[in-house]
This record gives sequence, C-alpha cells and structure tokens, in this order.
Amino acid sequence: MNYADSLSSQLAVVTGASSGIGTEFARQLARRGVDLVLVARSQDRLEALASTLSSQYGVKVTPVVLDLSRPDSSERLVRTLDEMGAVVDVLVNNAGFASHGDLAAADPERMEAQVQLNVGTLVGTTTRLLRGMVERGRGSVINVASTAGFQAVPHMAVYSATKAFVLSFTRSLWGETRGTGVAVLGICPGATDTAFFDVAGDNASVGSRRTPQQVVDTALSALGGRKATVVDGGGNALVARAVSRLLPERPLIRIAERSVRPGSR
Ligand SMILES: NC(=O)c1ccc[n+]([C@@H]2O[C@H](COP(=O)([O-])OP(=O)(O)OC[C@H]3O[C@@H](n4cnc5c(N)ncnc54)[C@H](OP(=O)(O)O)[C@@H]3O)[C@@H](O)[C@H]2O)c1
Repeated sequence: MNYADSLSSQLAVVTGASSGIGTEFARQLARRGVDLVLVARSQDRLEALASTLSSQYGVKVTPVVLDLSRPDSSERLVRTLDEMGAVVDVLVNNAGFASHGDLAAADPERMEAQVQLNVGTLVGTTTRLLRGMVERGRGSVINVASTAGFQAVPHMAVYSATKAFVLSFTRSLWGETRGTGVAVLGICPGATDTAFFDVAGDNASVGSRRTPQQVVDTALSALGGRKATVVDGGGNALVARAVSRLLPERPLIRIAERSVRPGSR
C-alpha cells in the first residue's frame, strides 16, 4: 500500500477543484475514501462535482465558493473550515492561472491577482493549516508548481516567477517538516490538457500535452516518498531539471521564450 492509499477517512481541501487537475485530485482522493472540501469560484461546477463524488464513492464532499485571488482569502477559507468543524489532514494547493504576454502591456491588477492566487493565498493557507498538522503529527501538503518554475520564461514572466516561488517554498517546507509526520510535495506538471490554456492562451505551450490523470497519478505516487518535488512525465523532467541546470543563462532564457512567444518558434 502506498502512502496515498493510507489517506482513507481523512479530510482533504482541494483548491481549484472545479476544473482540470484540481477536479482530478478530488476524484482520485474520493476514490481512496477521503472526505473533501472543494474550493473555487464556480458554484455550479463545484456542486455538480460534489454530488457526483459523494454518490460514486460514499465520501462527504463540501463545496466552498471563494475567490482565492483576494488578499484575505486564506483567512476567510480557514475561518469557514473552522466554522464547519473541519480538521484538515490533506491540503492540495492547486488553484492558479497564467497570463501570456509582455509585462509592459499587461494589466497590473491581473498580475497582482496572479501573484496573490498562485503565491499569497497558497502561503497563507499553508501557514494557517500546517501548525495543526504538525501538532497532530499527521498531514499532507501538495503544492502544484510547474515546469515553468525551473527557469525564467519571457512572455510569462509573472507566472514562471510565481511557480519558482512555489518550488522553493515547497522544498524549504519539506526540509522543515521532516520527522514531523507531515508529508510535503511539489508537483510540477508540464503542458497538461485542461482549461488552463483557455485563460493563458494556446500559444502558452508547445508540443503534446499530458492528461490531468497522469499528473495526479504522478503526484499521489510520489507523496510521502523521498522527493520534495516531482516533475510529471519523463520528457518534462529531462527538460526541467537537466536542461535548466546545464545551459547558461542567456540561451536558456531565449529557448524558454521561443517555446511560448507567438511567431518565435
Ligand atoms: N495545465 C497546464 O498545462 C499546467 C501546467 C503546469 C502547472 N499547472 C498548474 O496546475 C494548476 C491547475 O491548473 P489547471 O491546468 O487544472 O487549470 P484549470 O483547468 O484552468 O483550473 C484552474 C482551477 O483554479 C481555479 N481558480 C482560478 N482562479 C481562481 C480564483 N481566483 N479563486 C479560486 N479558484 C480559482 C479554477 O476555478 P474557478 O474558475 O471556478 O474559480 C479552476 O478550478 C494551476 O496551479 C496551474 O498553474 C497547469
């Protein structure tokens, strides 16, 4: 039995559960008998998913409708969880979005919202829930980073920087929690077939895309193991880890730019 199979009867909070990778995390955790709190803005989708998963797997699923890009949202989320009497064993920080384009032409409020969602709320929620996990000697935190976090990506400057933060933060937390009974993992998907590209734009990826199921399989197989971070897919792992370490800065930035800037491929 792997670590993820031992989560049965625990309670997981999955952010960004209304779509893509978050929906798949919810589905795979429900299949293992994990009760769920599902968080996102799309009430209809969360309610539909909650009713499907609870009837299919017999677990308790509670939707929480919240815009996590607001500065006070982790506080609001944890207050809601406290009011529900929820003791959170598993936190999946998955909600996030990317924007595509040069910063000089970008909407500053959208950039700030991106940092708040991808980084600020992730840190706030983790900080607020981790103490209880450590005190209880049991818990899991999965942070969804990205292969874009391994190097700078011109034309997706804010997004790649937020994911670099998530990678670094997760590695530090992994170190801090060793021996506490809390498992910490950063999952780094490469291009994955979700609604992500409806927001980021189709030009934000090159080559084939993996499935949310593959990403979540990779994460749940690695959770509780020896690694602080795992890249989904062998090709992605090679590019993210090897290429970004071996190439000098300037060619690396140019190659990353070419992979996302329209007309530069
Ligand atoms: N797809 C990829 O190629 C890829 C690659 C690497 C990393 N990732 C990462 O994977 C994670 C999940 O993305 P995905 O590919 O599954 O994309 P997705 O299908 O667009 O899902 C994004 C999820 O985040 C939620 N979300 C977005 N803004 C939110 C907000 N302000 N407040 C609350 N929830 C919000 C969305 O729900 P609502 O719209 O209902 O709020 C949705 O459930 C993200 O962190 C993304 O950066 C994706």
